[in-house]
Amino acid sequence: MPFAQRVCRIRPSATLAMAATARSMRAAGKEVVDFGLGEPDFTSPDMAIEAAILALREGDTKYTPPGGTDDLRAAIVAKLATENGLAYSKKEVIVSCGAKHTLYNIAQVLFEAGDEVILPAPYWVSYPDQVALNDAVPVIVPTREAEGFRLTPEALRAAITSRTRAVILNAPANPTGAAYTPAQLAALAAVIAPTSIWIISDEIYETFVYDGHLHTSIAAVSEEIKRKTLVVNGVSKAYAMTGFRIGYAAGPAEVIAAMETVQSQSTSNPTSISQRAAAAALRGGATFTRTMVAEFERRRNMAVERLNKMPGVGCPKPMGSFYLFPNVKGLLGKHDGPKRIDTSSDVADWLLDRTGVLTVPGESFGAPGYLRLSYAVPYETLAAGLDKMEAAIVRLA
Ligand SMILES: Cc1ncc(COP(=O)(O)O)c(C=O)c1O
Repeated sequence: MPFAQRVCRIRPSATLAMAATARSMRAAGKEVVDFGLGEPDFTSPDMAIEAAILALREGDTKYTPPGGTDDLRAAIVAKLATENGLAYSKKEVIVSCGAKHTLYNIAQVLFEAGDEVILPAPYWVSYPDQVALNDAVPVIVPTREAEGFRLTPEALRAAITSRTRAVILNAPANPTGAAYTPAQLAALAAVIAPTSIWIISDEIYETFVYDGHLHTSIAAVSEEIKRKTLVVNGVSKAYAMTGFRIGYAAGPAEVIAAMETVQSQSTSNPTSISQRAAAAALRGGATFTRTMVAEFERRRNMAVERLNKMPGVGCPKPMGSFYLFPNVKGLLGKHDGPKRIDTSSDVADWLLDRTGVLTVPGESFGAPGYLRLSYAVPYETLAAGLDKMEAAIVRLA
């Protein structure tokens, strides 16, 4: 075998693979409406761009401390205090090269062979693979559409064994948009409180909440829970800065220090220029985010209504993130000529082939029977893609 064992345990990111498919279809001259995107279609905010340019002009182009600059850590500490009601010191915060890297560092520091990590499904594509890459075992706990795809305290309790090391919570969630009220978080926290299980709380979509929902971090439930939690966030989604690659974590100083050691031996530090841009966005980007999220809410409202009018499709209205997760089980078993559609993967392939509309099948998120559609595309593009989908689905029905 030419590679290390761990490489054989993982697959390439399904969403990045779909992005590559869209690129190659376009290169071949085909029109693609890409609903596979995991990044806001907005241009990064001016204050971040200006800060990056200034960093370059001022010669801020050298190594930084492995865990991030003092200035960015201070901006993160202030953000967590004012927006999440969480008091951390700079020693309890680490900056990494995107939230995905932050999560990977956490996995490196916390997981060992034989450890079990609880993942509510539908889950973000990278969690199971990151867990497996770090020798631990993903324990998939299905959630139900009827329960808003939220993890219940009962399901969490039932999944815990003596080997459980952590639970990864993602709210608002990719791909379902599921979000929790403070009471629902407190009920989950009550299950974790008597255990030594870590909570990894991925809050990267915290600003994308609708209908007046307010995001709460599970770390805010109590001091006891805060000591067991690693809060993960970043600037990729909230400020449309995916290419800057800045994510961060806040948690107990010992864990953060261990993550910093891992990082010092892998990437050294996040880019100095991006750190300047991220600090500027965290300090001055609130209006930018509000404007963007209002537009996302408008798109969500339109798309949910449209999807629910399509025969065989049912789309819950998500509370957050920028994805829709329609149930397409009503399309299974149908034929398009000789082609029979048996799975949501078949639905996604058929839609792409017939209409050029790219979606990601639920199979990629541990939830067959659904499709994920991102509405991080302009309103008109979204409407045009939905027109194409509707025409094909009506014909199928
Ligand atoms: C749930 C979730 N967590 C983390 C990330 C990673 O974000 P970043 O671009 O900062 O690495 C993503 C990106 O798609 C995501 O959907």
